[in-house]
Amino acid sequence: MTNKKISFKEIVSHAKQYGFVFPSSEIYDGINAIYDYGQYGIYLKNNIKEYWWKSMIQINENIIGLDTSILMHPNIWKASGHISKFKEIFLYNEDTKYSYRLDFLIENYFKTNLNLNKEKKLKHNIIKYLDKKLKINEKDKILKLINKIKIIDPKQKKLTKWTKIYEYNLMFKIPLKEHEKKNFYLRPETAQGIFTNFLNVLNTSKMKIPFGIAQIGKVFRKEIIARQFLFRMREFEQMEMQFFIHPNQEEKWLEYWKKKRLKWHLSLGLGKKKYRFYEHEQLAHYAKKAYDIQFKFTFGFKELEGIHSRANFDLKNHEKYSKKRFRVFDKEKKNFYIPYIIETSVGLDRIFLAVFSSSLKKETIKDTKKERIILKINPALSPIKAAIFPLIRDKRLIFYAKEIYKNLKLYFILIYEEKDSIGKRYRRQDAIGTPICVTIDFKTLKDKCVTMRFRDKMLQKRVLIKDLKREIKKETSMNQLFKLL
Ligand code: GAP
Repeated sequence: MTNKKISFKEIVSHAKQYGFVFPSSEIYDGINAIYDYGQYGIYLKNNIKEYWWKSMIQINENIIGLDTSILMHPNIWKASGHISKFKEIFLYNEDTKYSYRLDFLIENYFKTNLNLNKEKKLKHNIIKYLDKKLKINEKDKILKLINKIKIIDPKQKKLTKWTKIYEYNLMFKIPLKEHEKKNFYLRPETAQGIFTNFLNVLNTSKMKIPFGIAQIGKVFRKEIIARQFLFRMREFEQMEMQFFIHPNQEEKWLEYWKKKRLKWHLSLGLGKKKYRFYEHEQLAHYAKKAYDIQFKFTFGFKELEGIHSRANFDLKNHEKYSKKRFRVFDKEKKNFYIPYIIETSVGLDRIFLAVFSSSLKKETIKDTKKERIILKINPALSPIKAAIFPLIRDKRLIFYAKEIYKNLKLYFILIYEEKDSIGKRYRRQDAIGTPICVTIDFKTLKDKCVTMRFRDKMLQKRVLIKDLKREIKKETSMNQLFKLL
């Protein structure tokens, strides 16, 4: 078997053609950076969710889960700093009529203009200068610098004058009632629902520091440069866990969660070389220290998950704005303190993209020289666990196959198919990542055995019908992932 490279365009098109991801509102020409999950995509997405949820909540006795609302009191976003600081700086080019995010322009400049081994210091100085100017809000000085170091327009690839610099808050604003002046916001992170329920959890559970609260939910951001399919969307899902600790344990737990989250990603089997850590020089407004787990997408290493120390930024501010006490008692020191928080935050859609894009393979089969597109996804995440086929459309085989399907569908997500040749049916299942195909043939009528065909190696074996449930479970169970954690 030989492998051929698959382009990003082919990945996006496969996702649509095989019912994984559709562009939203397509019949009205679509809407940029918003997507719908199709009949197979939803299973893959739910399997990733289930794996994350169980590995947080079920495996760890000191982590519980919540499901908090998307709309929250607007003061939450004042306290969290999102109203004043969740902004991106953009530069506008009058000649080309394009706007770019400042960090994107700078990153692009470093990549294309600097030899980073030799000019590390220059990079450091530019970042330091920008940081300083941003802090004191001297945007005109930033504009001057961008023009001085001659940053080109990345799309037009020509040197032009940058004419405007402006800020843009990334939260979607909505009035809750008609004619209401007060604005509500669609949440841009799930974390705030966790912080604002910290006292409720303390009062209603047996949780004691250190402990975590996890949540999965939709978030919304007015991304200006939404791009790369599921990578940067305007509506997406986050899986976040906030771990509350004593302030003097910050370093220990930050390291703990970095290791633990990397292990989780590695358990998906996409390959160790695809991951690396990146420490942020420029920090989000809430973060004291921040690391990304980056993943090697087809368009390069990019952030997959963020692991941050938020220190006591959030609870301290909620204490100030809500006038409630977010403190716990330190038995040793006999005083009250505001807990620190270590956050792990990952985009569900980004993991989906990582899993889907790096599992999609184009293979040429050695003997037949035929090409097959195969989604070599971890069987525990596969949308469909097994496909049940009668070898041909014969009444007796159909009866047997349907009986098997009827019994097993109580335990697994299955597909029953009798249309087309068996070869074509195999190809269709390969393309959606079904790890097992079960064929009922005339021998089955005598020996009560069926043929199991395994997706990756195309190996076949005969098994007794009564053992099928055990065999499918062995191959597709999520337990095999948990064992790697
Ligand atoms: N609570 C912290 C927080 O929201 P973040 O780095 O802004 O941190 C965390 O986001 C994760 O959410 C990212 O690592 C990424 O996986 C995902 N994410 C962020 N913006 C996204 C977008 N526009 N589209 C898809 N996923 C996104």
